[in-house]
Amino acid sequence: MRAPFSAIVGPDGFGVDGPLRTLAVIALKGGSGKTTVATHLALAAHLRGLKTLLVDIDPQASSHEVLSARQGPGPECVTSAGSKVMATQLAAVGLKTDLLIIDTPAGVVEDVSEAIVLADAAVMVVRPTLLDIAALARTLALVRRLRKPSTVVVNQAPVAREGVEAPVVKRALRALEYMRLPIAPVIVRARSVYQTAVETGRSAEEMPDQAAAREIAALWDYVDKALLQAALEEQAEVEA
Ligand SMILES: Nc1ncnc2c1ncn2[C@@H]1O[C@H](COP(=O)(O)OP(=O)(O)O)[C@@H](O)[C@H]1O
Ligand SMILES: [Mg+2]
Repeated sequence: MRAPFSAIVGPDGFGVDGPLRTLAVIALKGGSGKTTVATHLALAAHLRGLKTLLVDIDPQASSHEVLSARQGPGPECVTSAGSKVMATQLAAVGLKTDLLIIDTPAGVVEDVSEAIVLADAAVMVVRPTLLDIAALARTLALVRRLRKPSTVVVNQAPVAREGVEAPVVKRALRALEYMRLPIAPVIVRARSVYQTAVETGRSAEEMPDQAAAREIAALWDYVDKALLQAALEEQAEVEA
């Protein structure tokens, strides 16, 4: 079993040997939930003691708006542009940052490519609709061309009733399997708490809705253990 990336956190709460991990949150389609997922992953990492920086390269700067609304300690957040992310990444290494998350705009292929190139791994966010999944094909082509470990997070899915997925979700999962996509084992459901939590820069993990809190904790665990750790191992193999 792989050790989670967060296992390298030292007693002072910062990475012991400090390899910066970078995650790009992408989807060439707008409104899929990139900002919701990016801010929640940044908050999850922060709440677990990782020194976290979110770089928002979407000109709409929604992630920056969300994290600026937070009271008290939280992940750092800066706005940037695709062409400047590398400089931000180098600065983050100097500041002993553990995790860099890049929130990206929809549709701007150059910026999204830049984010993927600089990332150890990519999280693609998709709603369970055929239009969103069709649009994912382009995003997928980018990730595959750049040979990055990746995962697809299905977001805004209706809640399963008594363990049975709604037909739209079943259809979406079948389409994703057909495209041979690595689907995250955690589906993020459509819940109003995701909208209300971010108004005050908080994570659903900090709100009373336990179902949403469990969802985000499970998503973080998966990204931490399966994706970032896999990327670390892959990189070590390349360098060996
Ligand atoms: N799981 C969810 N449940 C409920 N609302 C969501 C969820 N994910 C995203 N939203 C809402 O959908 C809209 C678009 O989400 P956002 O994260 O801004 O997408 P993107 O960054 O991809 O454009 C926002 O209003 C957001 O609050
Ligand atoms: Mg956004």
